[in-house]
Amino acid sequence: MGLVSAKEMLEKAVAGGYAVGHFNINNLEWTKAILTTAQELQSPVILGVSEGAAKYMCGYTTVAAMVKAMIEELGITVPVALHLDHGTYEGAKKAIAAGFSSIQFDGGHYAIEENLEKTAEFVAICKEKGLSLEAEVGSIGGEEDGVIGAGELADPQQCKTIADLGITMLAAGIGNIHGKYPANWKGLNFEVLEGIHKACSGKPLVLHGGTGIPADMVKKAISLGVAKVNVNTECQLAFAAATREYIEAGKDQAGKGFDPRKLLAPGYQAIKDTVKEKMELFGSIGKA
Ligand code: 13P
Repeated sequence: MGLVSAKEMLEKAVAGGYAVGHFNINNLEWTKAILTTAQELQSPVILGVSEGAAKYMCGYTTVAAMVKAMIEELGITVPVALHLDHGTYEGAKKAIAAGFSSIQFDGGHYAIEENLEKTAEFVAICKEKGLSLEAEVGSIGGEEDGVIGAGELADPQQCKTIADLGITMLAAGIGNIHGKYPANWKGLNFEVLEGIHKACSGKPLVLHGGTGIPADMVKKAISLGVAKVNVNTECQLAFAAATREYIEAGKDQAGKGFDPRKLLAPGYQAIKDTVKEKMELFGSIGKA
Protein backbone atom coordinates (compact mmCIF):
# COMPACT_ATOMS: atom_id res chain seq x y z
CA MET A 1 0.00 0.00 0.00
CA GLY A 2 1.36 3.43 -0.86
CA LEU A 3 0.68 6.54 1.17
CA VAL A 4 -2.87 7.11 2.32
CA SER A 5 -4.78 10.09 3.65
CA ALA A 6 -5.27 10.00 7.41
CA LYS A 7 -9.05 10.42 7.07
CA GLU A 8 -10.13 6.80 7.17
CA MET A 9 -7.69 5.71 9.89
CA LEU A 10 -8.80 8.58 12.14
CA GLU A 11 -12.51 8.01 11.57
CA LYS A 12 -11.96 4.35 12.49
CA ALA A 13 -10.02 5.47 15.59
CA VAL A 14 -12.89 7.74 16.73
CA ALA A 15 -15.38 4.92 16.22
CA GLY A 16 -13.11 2.42 17.99
CA GLY A 17 -12.13 4.64 20.92
CA TYR A 18 -8.39 4.64 20.28
CA ALA A 19 -5.84 7.03 18.75
CA VAL A 20 -3.30 6.78 15.94
CA GLY A 21 0.25 7.88 16.73
CA HIS A 22 1.84 10.69 14.74
CA PHE A 23 5.60 10.27 15.08
CA ASN A 24 7.94 12.92 13.70
CA ILE A 25 10.75 11.74 11.45
CA ASN A 26 14.22 13.24 11.16
CA ASN A 27 16.18 10.92 8.90
CA LEU A 28 16.23 7.48 7.31
CA GLU A 29 16.78 5.57 10.57
CA TRP A 30 13.85 7.34 12.21
CA THR A 31 11.55 6.57 9.31
CA LYS A 32 12.59 2.92 9.12
CA ALA A 33 12.22 2.46 12.89
CA ILE A 34 8.66 3.83 12.88
CA LEU A 35 7.52 2.03 9.72
CA THR A 36 8.85 -1.38 10.79
CA THR A 37 7.34 -1.05 14.26
CA ALA A 38 3.95 -0.14 12.81
CA GLN A 39 4.14 -3.14 10.48
CA GLU A 40 5.21 -5.55 13.27
CA LEU A 41 2.36 -4.34 15.47
CA GLN A 42 -0.15 -4.05 12.63
CA SER A 43 -0.89 -0.47 13.55
CA PRO A 44 -1.81 2.43 11.28
CA VAL A 45 0.72 5.24 11.57
CA ILE A 46 1.24 8.88 10.67
CA LEU A 47 4.75 10.10 9.87
CA GLY A 48 5.00 13.75 10.88
CA VAL A 49 7.45 16.07 9.13
CA SER A 50 8.05 19.58 10.41
CA GLU A 51 9.22 22.20 7.94
CA GLY A 52 12.62 22.26 9.67
CA ALA A 53 12.96 18.48 9.42
CA ALA A 54 11.95 18.59 5.74
CA LYS A 55 14.65 21.16 5.10
CA TYR A 56 17.18 19.03 6.99
CA MET A 57 16.23 15.98 4.88
CA CYS A 58 16.78 17.94 1.63
CA GLY A 59 13.23 19.07 0.95
CA TYR A 60 9.70 17.72 0.64
CA THR A 61 10.30 15.80 -2.58
CA THR A 62 13.26 13.94 -1.03
CA VAL A 63 11.17 13.04 2.01
CA ALA A 64 8.18 11.88 -0.03
CA ALA A 65 10.40 9.81 -2.35
CA MET A 66 12.24 8.22 0.59
CA VAL A 67 9.06 7.30 2.45
CA LYS A 68 7.31 5.91 -0.63
CA ALA A 69 10.36 3.85 -1.60
CA MET A 70 10.77 2.56 1.94
CA ILE A 71 7.14 1.44 2.12
CA GLU A 72 7.70 -0.56 -1.04
CA GLU A 73 11.15 -1.96 -0.22
CA LEU A 74 10.21 -2.94 3.33
CA GLY A 75 6.88 -4.43 2.27
CA ILE A 76 4.88 -2.18 4.56
CA THR A 77 1.18 -3.00 4.23
CA VAL A 78 -0.30 -1.05 7.17
CA PRO A 79 -1.85 2.36 6.40
CA VAL A 80 0.81 5.10 6.41
CA ALA A 81 0.09 8.82 6.07
CA LEU A 82 2.89 11.27 5.36
CA HIS A 83 1.85 14.43 7.15
CA LEU A 84 3.22 17.97 7.18
CA ASP A 85 3.45 19.09 10.81
CA HIS A 86 2.68 22.76 11.58
CA GLY A 87 2.73 23.78 7.95
CA THR A 88 2.89 27.42 6.94
CA TYR A 89 0.81 28.62 3.99
CA GLU A 90 3.78 28.30 1.58
CA GLY A 91 5.14 25.11 3.16
CA ALA A 92 1.76 23.36 2.90
CA LYS A 93 1.55 24.15 -0.81
CA LYS A 94 5.06 22.76 -1.37
CA ALA A 95 4.37 19.57 0.59
CA ILE A 96 1.15 19.01 -1.40
CA ALA A 97 3.06 19.44 -4.66
CA ALA A 98 5.71 16.98 -3.44
CA GLY A 99 3.16 14.23 -2.78
CA PHE A 100 2.47 14.35 0.98
CA SER A 101 -0.82 12.60 1.76
CA SER A 102 -1.78 14.73 4.74
CA ILE A 103 -1.27 18.36 5.66
CA GLN A 104 -1.48 20.48 8.74
CA PHE A 105 -2.06 24.08 7.91
CA ASP A 106 -1.25 25.77 11.19
CA GLY A 107 -3.11 29.04 11.22
CA GLY A 108 -3.35 29.04 15.02
CA HIS A 109 -1.22 32.17 15.28
CA TYR A 110 -3.36 34.20 12.84
CA ALA A 111 -6.45 36.12 13.88
CA ILE A 112 -9.40 33.72 13.60
CA GLU A 113 -10.78 35.38 10.44
CA GLU A 114 -7.50 34.91 8.58
CA ASN A 115 -7.08 31.40 9.94
CA LEU A 116 -10.58 30.53 8.64
CA GLU A 117 -9.97 32.07 5.25
CA LYS A 118 -6.63 30.33 4.67
CA THR A 119 -7.85 27.02 6.10
CA ALA A 120 -10.85 27.12 3.74
CA GLU A 121 -8.46 27.44 0.83
CA PHE A 122 -6.67 24.26 1.92
CA VAL A 123 -9.98 22.46 2.48
CA ALA A 124 -10.73 22.94 -1.22
CA ILE A 125 -7.25 21.86 -2.37
CA CYS A 126 -7.11 18.81 -0.10
CA LYS A 127 -10.62 17.72 -1.05
CA GLU A 128 -9.74 17.83 -4.72
CA LYS A 129 -6.55 15.83 -4.19
CA GLY A 130 -7.92 13.37 -1.62
CA LEU A 131 -5.61 14.52 1.17
CA SER A 132 -6.41 14.84 4.86
CA LEU A 133 -6.20 18.28 6.44
CA GLU A 134 -5.47 19.26 10.02
CA ALA A 135 -6.32 22.77 11.19
CA GLU A 136 -5.29 24.42 14.43
CA VAL A 137 -7.04 26.77 16.83
CA GLY A 138 -5.22 28.24 19.80
CA SER A 139 -1.48 27.75 19.54
CA ILE A 140 0.25 24.84 21.27
CA GLY A 141 2.74 25.92 23.91
CA GLY A 142 6.49 25.39 23.93
CA GLU A 143 9.01 25.61 21.15
CA GLU A 144 9.09 23.68 17.91
CA ASP A 145 11.47 24.56 15.11
CA GLY A 146 12.03 27.97 16.62
CA VAL A 147 8.30 28.75 16.75
CA ILE A 148 7.34 29.50 20.32
CA GLY A 149 3.70 29.09 21.29
CA ALA A 150 2.32 30.47 24.54
CA GLY A 151 -0.04 27.52 25.03
CA GLU A 152 -3.44 29.11 24.66
CA LEU A 153 -6.68 27.35 25.42
CA ALA A 154 -8.80 27.05 22.30
CA ASP A 155 -12.31 28.48 22.18
CA PRO A 156 -14.84 25.67 21.48
CA GLN A 157 -17.01 27.96 19.35
CA GLN A 158 -14.05 28.89 17.13
CA CYS A 159 -13.20 25.19 16.94
CA LYS A 160 -16.70 24.43 15.68
CA THR A 161 -16.50 27.16 13.05
CA ILE A 162 -13.22 25.81 11.69
CA ALA A 163 -14.33 22.16 11.97
CA ASP A 164 -17.43 22.99 9.91
CA LEU A 165 -15.23 24.16 7.02
CA GLY A 166 -14.74 20.47 6.19
CA ILE A 167 -11.31 19.78 7.66
CA THR A 168 -10.37 16.20 8.57
CA MET A 169 -8.99 16.77 12.06
CA LEU A 170 -8.52 19.60 14.50
CA ALA A 171 -5.60 20.47 16.77
CA ALA A 172 -6.79 22.63 19.63
CA GLY A 173 -4.77 24.04 22.50
CA ILE A 174 -5.85 22.47 25.79
CA GLY A 175 -2.82 23.32 27.91
CA ASN A 176 -0.51 20.99 25.96
CA ILE A 177 3.07 22.00 25.23
CA HIS A 178 5.73 20.78 22.79
CA GLY A 179 8.82 19.32 24.40
CA LYS A 180 9.24 18.43 28.07
CA TYR A 181 6.55 19.61 30.47
CA PRO A 182 7.73 21.91 33.26
CA ALA A 183 7.44 20.66 36.85
CA ASN A 184 4.66 23.18 37.55
CA TRP A 185 2.55 22.18 34.50
CA LYS A 186 -1.15 22.20 35.36
CA GLY A 187 -2.03 19.25 33.12
CA LEU A 188 -4.46 19.03 30.22
CA ASN A 189 -7.61 21.08 30.53
CA PHE A 190 -10.35 18.45 30.15
CA GLU A 191 -13.14 20.95 30.59
CA VAL A 192 -11.99 22.75 27.46
CA LEU A 193 -11.43 19.45 25.63
CA GLU A 194 -14.94 18.28 26.49
CA GLY A 195 -16.37 21.58 25.25
CA ILE A 196 -14.48 21.24 21.96
CA HIS A 197 -15.49 17.58 21.59
CA LYS A 198 -19.16 18.45 22.03
CA ALA A 199 -19.00 21.52 19.79
CA CYS A 200 -17.23 19.63 16.99
CA SER A 201 -19.55 16.60 17.18
CA GLY A 202 -17.18 13.71 16.56
CA LYS A 203 -14.52 15.45 14.45
CA PRO A 204 -11.19 13.67 15.13
CA LEU A 205 -9.17 15.83 17.55
CA VAL A 206 -5.37 16.02 17.65
CA LEU A 207 -3.26 16.14 20.79
CA HIS A 208 0.09 17.80 20.12
CA GLY A 209 2.94 17.66 22.62
CA GLY A 210 2.50 13.94 23.30
CA THR A 211 5.87 13.69 25.06
CA GLY A 212 5.59 13.32 28.81
CA ILE A 213 1.80 13.50 29.18
CA PRO A 214 0.90 10.99 31.91
CA ALA A 215 -0.77 7.83 30.57
CA ASP A 216 -4.05 8.40 32.42
CA MET A 217 -4.39 11.88 30.90
CA VAL A 218 -3.70 10.52 27.41
CA LYS A 219 -6.39 7.86 27.90
CA LYS A 220 -8.88 10.41 29.16
CA ALA A 221 -8.12 12.67 26.20
CA ILE A 222 -8.77 9.74 23.83
CA SER A 223 -12.10 9.10 25.56
CA LEU A 224 -12.96 12.76 24.81
CA GLY A 225 -12.40 12.54 21.06
CA VAL A 226 -8.62 12.69 20.59
CA ALA A 227 -7.85 10.37 17.66
CA LYS A 228 -4.28 11.47 16.80
CA VAL A 229 -1.48 11.98 19.31
CA ASN A 230 1.73 13.70 18.17
CA VAL A 231 5.05 12.49 19.58
CA ASN A 232 8.42 13.94 18.69
CA THR A 233 10.70 14.84 21.63
CA GLU A 234 10.30 11.47 23.36
CA CYS A 235 11.83 9.60 20.40
CA GLN A 236 14.64 12.17 20.25
CA LEU A 237 15.39 11.74 23.96
CA ALA A 238 15.35 7.93 23.68
CA PHE A 239 17.62 8.03 20.61
CA ALA A 240 20.09 10.41 22.30
CA ALA A 241 20.23 8.42 25.55
CA ALA A 242 20.88 5.12 23.77
CA THR A 243 23.56 6.69 21.55
CA ARG A 244 25.23 8.34 24.54
CA GLU A 245 25.29 5.04 26.41
CA TYR A 246 26.95 3.31 23.43
CA ILE A 247 29.65 5.97 23.16
CA GLU A 248 30.20 6.34 26.89
CA ALA A 249 30.74 2.57 27.07
CA GLY A 250 33.50 3.05 24.46
CA LYS A 251 31.73 0.76 21.98
CA ASP A 252 32.48 3.05 19.05
CA GLN A 253 36.17 2.43 19.71
CA ALA A 254 35.91 -1.35 19.90
CA GLY A 255 36.36 -3.25 16.62
CA LYS A 256 34.24 -1.66 13.91
CA GLY A 257 31.91 -0.01 16.42
CA PHE A 258 32.42 3.29 14.63
CA ASP A 259 30.49 1.97 11.61
CA PRO A 260 27.34 4.14 11.46
CA ARG A 261 25.26 1.02 10.97
CA LYS A 262 26.48 -0.12 14.41
CA LEU A 263 26.73 3.29 16.04
CA LEU A 264 23.12 4.20 15.22
CA ALA A 265 21.67 0.77 16.01
CA PRO A 266 20.95 1.33 19.74
CA GLY A 267 19.25 4.66 19.00
CA TYR A 268 17.22 2.99 16.24
CA GLN A 269 16.07 0.31 18.67
CA ALA A 270 15.26 2.96 21.29
CA ILE A 271 12.93 4.70 18.81
CA LYS A 272 11.24 1.38 18.05
CA ASP A 273 10.72 0.71 21.77
CA THR A 274 9.29 4.21 22.31
CA VAL A 275 6.92 3.90 19.35
CA LYS A 276 5.75 0.49 20.58
CA GLU A 277 5.09 1.83 24.06
CA LYS A 278 3.05 4.72 22.61
CA MET A 279 1.07 2.48 20.26
CA GLU A 280 0.18 0.28 23.23
CA LEU A 281 -0.97 3.34 25.18
CA PHE A 282 -2.95 4.79 22.27
CA GLY A 283 -4.63 1.43 21.59
CA SER A 284 -3.78 1.31 17.87
CA ILE A 285 -2.09 -2.11 17.83
CA GLY A 286 -3.85 -4.58 15.53
CA LYS A 287 -6.02 -1.83 14.07
CA ALA A 288 -4.34 -1.67 10.65
P1 13P B 1 6.48 16.61 21.47
O1 13P B 1 7.80 16.97 20.89
O2 13P B 1 6.22 17.29 22.76
O3 13P B 1 6.29 15.12 21.57
O4 13P B 1 5.35 17.18 20.49
C1 13P B 1 5.27 16.70 19.18
C2 13P B 1 4.27 17.44 18.39
O5 13P B 1 3.28 17.89 18.88
C3 13P B 1 4.50 17.58 16.95
O6 13P B 1 3.57 18.38 16.34
